[in-house]
Amino acid sequence: METIQDLEARYIVNTYNRKAEETPCLIRGEGARVWDDGEKQYLDFLGGLAVNALGHCHPAVVEAVNKQVSSLIHTSNLYYTAPQVHLAEALVESSVPGSKVFFANSGAEANEAAIKLARKYKPGRYKIITAENSFHGRTMATLTATGQPKYREAFKPLLDGFEYARFNDLDSFAALVDEQTAAIMIEPVQGEGGAYVPGDAFMKGLRELCDRESILLIFDEVQCGMGRTGKLWAFQNWPVKPDLFTAAKGLGGGLPIGAMVAAEAFSAVLQPGDHASTFGGNPVACSAALAVLGLAGDEYFLKEVQDKGRLLGNRFAMIASNYHSLVKESRGMGLIMALELNQAAAKEIQKKCTAEGLLVNAIGENVIRVLPPLTISGAELEEGLNILEGVLQGFN
Ligand SMILES: Cc1ncc(COP(=O)(O)O)c(C=O)c1O
Repeated sequence: METIQDLEARYIVNTYNRKAEETPCLIRGEGARVWDDGEKQYLDFLGGLAVNALGHCHPAVVEAVNKQVSSLIHTSNLYYTAPQVHLAEALVESSVPGSKVFFANSGAEANEAAIKLARKYKPGRYKIITAENSFHGRTMATLTATGQPKYREAFKPLLDGFEYARFNDLDSFAALVDEQTAAIMIEPVQGEGGAYVPGDAFMKGLRELCDRESILLIFDEVQCGMGRTGKLWAFQNWPVKPDLFTAAKGLGGGLPIGAMVAAEAFSAVLQPGDHASTFGGNPVACSAALAVLGLAGDEYFLKEVQDKGRLLGNRFAMIASNYHSLVKESRGMGLIMALELNQAAAKEIQKKCTAEGLLVNAIGENVIRVLPPLTISGAELEEGLNILEGVLQGFN
């Protein structure tokens, strides 16, 4: 009989490079744990790539989705639906009061909306400066925005007007601004790049630079937003506010949704006919997101994320110092953390962790990233860290 792995190899385009001998087929999840089709249990330090903010099948998300799915699944955006409007209200009130929201279905689409808005707001200004090592998505515009040549190379010619500055280097951004620049776009904490956190002076300086030059400051909060850094929005770790910001991933707690939030001064740039999405703001996805925001936006919840972030950060720092011949450094903020290795062992470490019942993520050859559910307990964090440390011992 053919296995799921055989069928996958025959029918699915191989963009994810899943390997039958080391990649489980997951069938069930609860909290910070998932189970495969052989009933093997895994502690999930990957959280669906920062999507499962409340863990797997959180009762609040399940209830909200069940309720909505049995009353109205989809209507199109030609009609009002209450979950969409209430979610917009919750997003605005939790971030940049006075702003307005455009709903999409993914991070890349949310960023597309931000890029289109930035290009429209001042005729003649079309250039967008992003950061080296950034990640903004896989559509043609967001791929062009992504400051990692390896993702872009095969798809040239790309869009005009994207330039790349060094992350956390204000002068490098300032040097690229000219009279055609429309916006600067960065991730407040770089995710796919390997959990890089910028300094205070850089963040404040970027805001001042954008004000001085009358250009938009766009924050891509797709990965680092929704409570992951210990603040609901990562930018709230600094005394700066964006003109536009985008969210996705954790926002829907597992359902596909993206959002672009535009500050009041820019909230009327996109006019009827300028942009649209058939599924964007779908009532089921919005109901799920309302449930996630209801919990993740709570001060006490965020304080717990900060505490767990400290636990994870301290242990990662200890691992970096105890295994210094293997680990170059530990980086990150809250529950988005990475270990950079001195050797190309990340994939092998990921494979061994999976075999030991822990899901982590190898970025390239040298970085191990973790993005556990925000609801993970301190004991579960310790349990997973013990597995990871056990695996690292074998490589030291
Ligand atoms: C910061 C950031 N922006 C955008 C995206 C793209 O999101 P999506 O895969 O939902 O299109 C990602 C995905 O990893 C991301 O990390």
